[in-house]
Amino acid sequence: MSQRVGRTPMGSLESQRASRRWWDADAGAYHDEHGDFLGDADFVWCPEGVRELDARLLGDLAGRRILEVGCGAASCSRWLIGQGAYAVGLDLSAGMLGHARQASIRTGVHPALVQADAESLPFGDAAFDLACSAFGAVPFVADPARVMREVFRVLRPGGRWVFAVTHPMRWIFLDDPGERGLVATHSYFDRRPYVETDSSGVPTYVEHHRTLGDRVRELVAAGFVIRDIVEPEWPEGHDRIWGQWSPLRGRIFPGTAIFVSEKPA
Ligand SMILES: C[S@@+](CC[C@H](N)C(=O)[O-])C[C@H]1O[C@@H](n2cnc3c(N)ncnc32)[C@H](O)[C@@H]1O
Repeated sequence: MSQRVGRTPMGSLESQRASRRWWDADAGAYHDEHGDFLGDADFVWCPEGVRELDARLLGDLAGRRILEVGCGAASCSRWLIGQGAYAVGLDLSAGMLGHARQASIRTGVHPALVQADAESLPFGDAAFDLACSAFGAVPFVADPARVMREVFRVLRPGGRWVFAVTHPMRWIFLDDPGERGLVATHSYFDRRPYVETDSSGVPTYVEHHRTLGDRVRELVAAGFVIRDIVEPEWPEGHDRIWGQWSPLRGRIFPGTAIFVSEKPA
């Protein structure tokens, strides 16, 4: 089916529909391509290969109740369980959660899995000690400020929220791991989402952009205190290309931003 690409304003419901369709359809290809890098029970934050095992952005894990937002196959949740935590993986896509169930059967480690939209979390107030997300949901929702408020609500006071997204500065470049991806072509200040539509005009993929300042403001407005914004450098000897993430670009500018925030005690 022919495809059109553009920047078009898109609300929560349309974004949600497009994401569900996209991730249901793409779940197999995503895990064929990235499954070995992500592992069945490993916590990889980003294509640069930062692991929670080394970074320890979430702090103490044993006995903690942890929500993984946009969990995909929930490998992070499985790794967290291995560290003594209780983990719940939430995702919009039944296709992605199907891969989570298969990985749970393969490993014998079973995080609770919930199908829901990150803009409306189906949990009570203060239900979790920690929340995390590795590129799950936040880049795909029309109202990330609402996700920040929802995560704030379901965290207990003193709880931590750590999420990784595409670094906002990547918005200005073409989605290309090679030389073409080194040329700035688009306004950093254009918040209209990147939208792919099929030949009937139905949105099939939607990705939303926020500037670095927007992300900070949304966290602060929800009530969080920001502890760090990690911009992983491309590691020496790491030559794996993941979509637009490549050694060529990674040596020059960041591809990922990891926001580390806390709900005040
Ligand atoms: C790039 S994948 C990342 C999956 C996983 N965290 C990983 O590291 O492999 C993005 C995930 O976010 C989920 N997602 C997208 N929009 C969402 C929403 N509004 N609410 C919950 N999950 C969503 C997708 O279904 C998909 O599983």
